[in-house]
Amino acid sequence: MNTIPVITIDGPSGSGKGTIARLLAKKMGWHYLESGALYRVLAYAVIQAKIDLNDVSRLVVLARDLPVKFDSEDESRILWCGYDITDSIHTESCGNLASKIAALPEVRDALLSRQRVFCASPGLVTDGRDMGTVVFPQSKLKIFITADRATRAKRRYMQLKEKGNNVSLENILSELTERDYRDEHRAVSPLKPAQDAILLDTTHLNIEQTFDQVMVFVQEAFGVSV
Ligand code: DC
Repeated sequence: MNTIPVITIDGPSGSGKGTIARLLAKKMGWHYLESGALYRVLAYAVIQAKIDLNDVSRLVVLARDLPVKFDSEDESRILWCGYDITDSIHTESCGNLASKIAALPEVRDALLSRQRVFCASPGLVTDGRDMGTVVFPQSKLKIFITADRATRAKRRYMQLKEKGNNVSLENILSELTERDYRDEHRAVSPLKPAQDAILLDTTHLNIEQTFDQVMVFVQEAFGVSV
């Protein structure tokens, strides 16, 4: 039996799951897997190679052989053939295409084992849509982070603005609505909380308050004072 501890943080776009997962991994000294980055890198590769989304067998080969690495010093940095593409994949267009590709069961299947290898000592914190339900169902602590849609859109807007992107709140809100619908209604591994997940609504919480709450869950689940 695999006894390596795993904490899964799932939720929709803009819920704050990525920020919290990164902070938590750092605090625990555990590995970090941003599963959405794999779907985003795949979308990036599809754009670069101009691959048709109907060409599923080509997408599967690409998913299996994706030349992507997570920086060993900072696992939130994504390297593509040695180049740092972290900022390039975190655009709205890459996110939207990633969500379309992520609806293909064959692609999800091809990425499964790539995700599971991140489960390594001393532990793993991971974020995504199906981390608690499908990829790491053995996880001892599953958190599902949400926030109302307007709040999430505003957060994404601020994030992208800070990075110097020229974006409109209206567009972000409509893309987010579309992406939520697709992620929640796809036939395979839809976005939903695991039965044993703890729900955390961050609509009225800032990052610090959310993190404090998550630390309470961690202490309750693992019985340690960290
Ligand atoms: O977490 P994110 O917004 O970076 O993810 C981008 C897209 O990838 C998301 O809209 C759906 C897909 N995704 C997924 O289907 N399963 C995951 N575990 C993570 C992301």
